[in-house]
Amino acid sequence: MSGIAVIGAQWGDEGKGKVIDLLSAHVDVVARYQGGPNAGHTVQVGVQKFFLHHIPSGILHGQTTCIVGNGVVILPEGFQEEVRTLAEADISVDGRLFVSSRAHIILPDHLEADARNEEGAVRIGTTKRGVGPCYQAKVGRTGLRVEDLLDSSRLEARLEAIGVGTDAAPLAETAASLKKFGDFLRPHVADTGDLLHRRLKEGARVLFEGAQGTLLDIDHGTYPFVTSSNSCAGGIAPGLGIGPTAVDGVVGVMKAYGTRVGEGPMPTELNDAVGERIRERGYEYGTTTGRPRRCGWFDGVLGRYAVQVNGLDCVALTLLDVLDEFETVRVATGYRLGDKLLDTIPLESWALAEVEPVYQEFTGWQQDTSAVRNFADLPQRAREFLAGLEKILGCPIGLVSVGPARDQYIIPEGSQLRTWFPQV
Ligand code: GDP
Ligand code: IMO
Ligand code: MG
Repeated sequence: MSGIAVIGAQWGDEGKGKVIDLLSAHVDVVARYQGGPNAGHTVQVGVQKFFLHHIPSGILHGQTTCIVGNGVVILPEGFQEEVRTLAEADISVDGRLFVSSRAHIILPDHLEADARNEEGAVRIGTTKRGVGPCYQAKVGRTGLRVEDLLDSSRLEARLEAIGVGTDAAPLAETAASLKKFGDFLRPHVADTGDLLHRRLKEGARVLFEGAQGTLLDIDHGTYPFVTSSNSCAGGIAPGLGIGPTAVDGVVGVMKAYGTRVGEGPMPTELNDAVGERIRERGYEYGTTTGRPRRCGWFDGVLGRYAVQVNGLDCVALTLLDVLDEFETVRVATGYRLGDKLLDTIPLESWALAEVEPVYQEFTGWQQDTSAVRNFADLPQRAREFLAGLEKILGCPIGLVSVGPARDQYIIPEGSQLRTWFPQV
């Protein structure tokens, strides 16, 4: 392999951080292509937990080069805090963390606009990190990029040109704080597209790290309740400045059930004791905002859609252990909409809020799976559930995660992941 993508295939928080961290032991480069401080990727190493927002989840392995691509948006104070937290844990980013000169900067105005928009008529339930307004400025060609921070006279001219500066935060103040951030960032700034291209040419093994999830993708998600970037695998090439041919394979991370943070339709949502049980067992509270996540059964219709949109080669199924105690486990295989039965998502996105899921029921295995490391040692019922999911998705499961720790995973016989990462 040379380039493998690991992306979210639901509504985010699928356990991408955990999967990327464990695969990162076997790669040379890990590159983020979109999103920013809205992401919260958890990596648990022993008793220590790391929460990564901008920096790739592969940073904890000392041999990796980590890239924050042009498609990422950066919140200065958040980024600095992340580097500091890593340093406190003796993880140095010097000489191995590179940030694209073309990545956009989240400005105080963007934070204000995000907060203001959320008070308006179309509440998305954003993370309030200014991500949407920053991407809006980018597309509107009034954004500020990392390259603009490197020269103070250019910085001020650019800030003036794009109309930064209010009574609350005058231009000079914003410019001074951004200049400081520019000094902090300077040793890391690079032409990351070229860097990546050269490393790929040398035969480096690269992981492309997605943030958010397919159903939060600006084009392919549940619009308008989405984030403002292309989180699906298609976002990799424009978000990093490489050709799509650099992506040799795509792994979609899905949890064994469904969760969503923020507003928008979620057909399998459970507003009952079962949903509450999933939330408590899975500790489903937002990594970035601490909000309780909405929980429900696995949605196979949306799962199939994610397989299609991303061209998934295999699925990494996480949080299987959360279902260990359930008597029955359900998976939506279709939707009822009025008198129609659908096996794909409805044509109009608003109709997703009106569908009734049609479920396939699996008998629960009611055994602890968290210590299982070989597929054959999984309870028979759990294997039946996994085989059922593969059938519903039309995609093989290449990894099963049974706990948050690094070693809590199972690679099924014949997994595609073994051909890409023989040592995993
Ligand atoms: P990400 O944004 O996709 O990286 O996911 P988050 O970090 O936001 O949320 C996933 C949560 O599940 C984190 O707290 C992880 O430590 C935890 N986690 C990941 N995989 C597993 C698993 O297989 N079982 C359990 N119980 N927890 C897991
Ligand atoms: P990771 O990478 C889950 C959601 C927000 C909101 C919508 C838009 O950890 O999986 P935004 O702040 O991006 O404008 O919010 O997207 N959202 C996430 N949900 N995980 C994430 O990231 C998310 N990033 C954004 O809750 O519904
Ligand atoms: Mg998360």
